Amino acid sequence: MDDRVQQSQLSFPPDMVIPPQRYSGEANHAEEAARVFRRCWMFVGFTDDLRNDNDFITADIAGTSVLVQNFDGDLRAYHNVCTHRYSLIHLRPCGNGKPVCPYHGWVFNRDGVPVGIPGNREHFGLDDAAKKRLALRRFEVAVRGRFVFVRLEPAGPGLDEQLGAYGAVLDHLSELFTDRIDEGVLPWSANWKAALESALEVYHVDATHPETFKGYVKKVWICSYEGEHSRGVSQLSDGSARWWDGVSQKMGLPRSDRLESYDHYLIFPNLAIGVSHGALMSVQTYDPVGPDRCELHYRLFLGETSKPQTKGGAARKAVEANVAGFNRTILGEDQRVAEATHKGLKQVQVPAVLGSCEERIAAFHRAWLARMAAE
Ligand code: FES
Ligand SMILES: [Fe+2]
Repeated sequence: MDDRVQQSQLSFPPDMVIPPQRYSGEANHAEEAARVFRRCWMFVGFTDDLRNDNDFITADIAGTSVLVQNFDGDLRAYHNVCTHRYSLIHLRPCGNGKPVCPYHGWVFNRDGVPVGIPGNREHFGLDDAAKKRLALRRFEVAVRGRFVFVRLEPAGPGLDEQLGAYGAVLDHLSELFTDRIDEGVLPWSANWKAALESALEVYHVDATHPETFKGYVKKVWICSYEGEHSRGVSQLSDGSARWWDGVSQKMGLPRSDRLESYDHYLIFPNLAIGVSHGALMSVQTYDPVGPDRCELHYRLFLGETSKPQTKGGAARKAVEANVAGFNRTILGEDQRVAEATHKGLKQVQVPAVLGSCEERIAAFHRAWLARMAAE
């Protein structure tokens, strides 16, 4: 223990904090993929992109490429890897089209079986039974509201059980925030945990976001917990609240009757949802793409306007550009400190000192450590 800080003074004992060496290294990354990402229900996208027959989305779950596809109204998830010579099948994040491998054109049906094999009789001679043996690996898929989740491991608790009371929160958010105004994927040179942790406290706001988020919220952070998940609530600054009131009224934007401040949820392990003044929803995932890199996938939503004539107008466009620009600026500021922290974590062994203002990070660490210790 670092003798600058006696153990007895700390809110969170060091054995409950993820050791720095667990933020890097291929072995840790592989173990985490197996114990956390394969076993949890992972958020992969919205039903908005899966409304029509043959609509699909793809996602990477800690190194496993997954496709979720609408087959005649039935959502099914498969390994997005062709069983011929292992090309990825769908190459785009979303779209419409049957699962057809781009390499040699094998066509897969709703059961994942390659039913269309060009030149089969001549080159392969596969009968129906042999084709079935070449079916794509199927994964569990479940939906809550408009949020789509996939679990790679075949056995485990259901999605509703994993979400607990936060399932109803996803229902509520799904009903309200239907209008996606921005989306993007940002590559960060940081372990996903170091990246996510910057979203779990407001202690960093003054130093990291002096010109942006500092003026947006008041720094009081009321935390609560639901199983492995957590919530942090901060009041919006008076200026931000006034701005949102004006915008909501002018643009006819609906507001949540339950979420009125800056309400931030973490759905374990890596789905973060922030709601501003009940009027704007930001949905972020921190997806590991290696031990030292992650992708931050962000989406912003407003509610459906009651003044459709404002949509597409200059004032509405200015609001959308303002909100999207503000979000990206803040993410850039968080990226800077997450990447700096990742570099630092690789040079130390002593667990970080967490203060009482960082209790959601401690809860995230407890959940992560328990998952990693589970058989
Ligand atoms: S690799 Fe997919 S059809 Fe050949
Ligand atoms: Fe931040």
